[in-house]
Amino acid sequence: MNKLEKANQYIQNNKQKVTNRPFFHFSPEIGWINDPNGFCFYQGEYHLFYQYYPYDIVWNDMHWGHATTLDFVHWNHKPVAMANDKVYDANGCFSGSAIEKDGKLFLIYTGHIDPNIGFDRDEPQIIERQCIAISEDGINFKKYENNPVIGEKELPEGYLICDFRDPKVMEVNGVYYCVLSVRNEKRRGEIIMFKSSNLVDWTFYSSIYQSKEEENILLECPDLFRIGNKDVLLFSIMPCDPEFQAEVDNKTAYVIGEMDFEKGIFKTESDGLLDYGHTFYAPQSTEGKNGERLLIGWMHRWHQTTPPKEYGFNGMISLPRKLSIENHRLIQQPAIEIEQYFNPSAIYEKIQLNAGEKIDFKGERTGYLYMSVSSSNTERFTVELNKSETKSTRIEVDVENTMISFESDYSSQDQINITDALNANEDLTLEFFIDRHSIELFINSGEKVISFTAYDQDKGKDISILGQCNAELKQVIYGTFCHENTLS
Ligand code: FRU
Repeated sequence: MNKLEKANQYIQNNKQKVTNRPFFHFSPEIGWINDPNGFCFYQGEYHLFYQYYPYDIVWNDMHWGHATTLDFVHWNHKPVAMANDKVYDANGCFSGSAIEKDGKLFLIYTGHIDPNIGFDRDEPQIIERQCIAISEDGINFKKYENNPVIGEKELPEGYLICDFRDPKVMEVNGVYYCVLSVRNEKRRGEIIMFKSSNLVDWTFYSSIYQSKEEENILLECPDLFRIGNKDVLLFSIMPCDPEFQAEVDNKTAYVIGEMDFEKGIFKTESDGLLDYGHTFYAPQSTEGKNGERLLIGWMHRWHQTTPPKEYGFNGMISLPRKLSIENHRLIQQPAIEIEQYFNPSAIYEKIQLNAGEKIDFKGERTGYLYMSVSSSNTERFTVELNKSETKSTRIEVDVENTMISFESDYSSQDQINITDALNANEDLTLEFFIDRHSIELFINSGEKVISFTAYDQDKGKDISILGQCNAELKQVIYGTFCHENTLS
């Protein structure tokens, strides 16, 4: 049995042992996942590939898992698409992307070689090169016979092959471009671009984005796409070396500007964070079936506490976010059919909460909570979720000081503070998606997003909204998730 068959058989033989999977977020049938890969709409369905180790709930030996969906709530698990079974990807098929060409689906990914499999980094032994796999049916993939397609020969001097990964491919006017994460000689992160006419012969084109030396970061999983007449570049931030671990948080950022494909230059005009939480990493976008730009991310971060071993899985993928640009900022709106999947069980209109007054409702383990709040008549209030007798997750909204803070008794994550969270004189909206192990909060229809993940088993279900000073809630809607049988 080869490595791919072995992985698929292991999943079939063991997946029934897995428990406590989320209700409406994608999770693997068994084992560990990290980054979304190869996210695309192909032959009438969304395809999601992902960094995958089926055999344990910790990172190891990367395969590419695979699932498809039409609505991002119901998923069809497909056979594992790739195992690390070649000399050039012996220690992992690392992150990458997908593109359709002549009806076939091309995957471009990083073939990772590291005899110490990531646990005891010895740079001279690590090689990362880009490889191709091709499919005619979107399920069975054949690795290209002349892999790798981008390696030492194509990477210019001044860059280190030990950190050269995460190809994201796009087509512009009949030419293929690919952005990649790389470490330069100063050991700092850059995003570089390669060019091809056929997806297999690639040449270096330019460096389109460089981190500053004093930022001490690598820029993983870059993504470049156009929205309207602007270009957007995304990347995920990691410390470039262990000594900077304490000062660099894993996070994801965007820059908006102009990509000049004639000259190979990206001109930055504005920037921001994709998520203010600590558990959203390595996001990847694709063009949706109606031409919209959709983004999904890994709801986790490196070095986060793992779920209890007996759950048998580790890692989830965020809800899809539909991207747009307003006033030089990236707006991210949740892109699932809310009315279809959440049944309103409580609706309140025009509620005035004075200091110490609250509304309580019995929650479920899953839910959608929508609130619109008058900014002019509100000073401060707190939303408490996952409430048990002793614990909760608290979101404090301080309208006067335009601050939102998020803290939780579950998991060991630090408090999150957003200081410029609200727009003066405009009503505020908050949308919470509550699943078994996560909360996603969309502020003001996606101006800011906070993702939170906690696998604690003792989570409460109840919800309270508590007036700290005056609060005028124009509307509050709570709905429970109504398709509980989505686990497949
Ligand atoms: C990001 C990342 C990528 C790499 C992959 C390995 O989370 O570190 O840069 O390709 O994970 O699993």
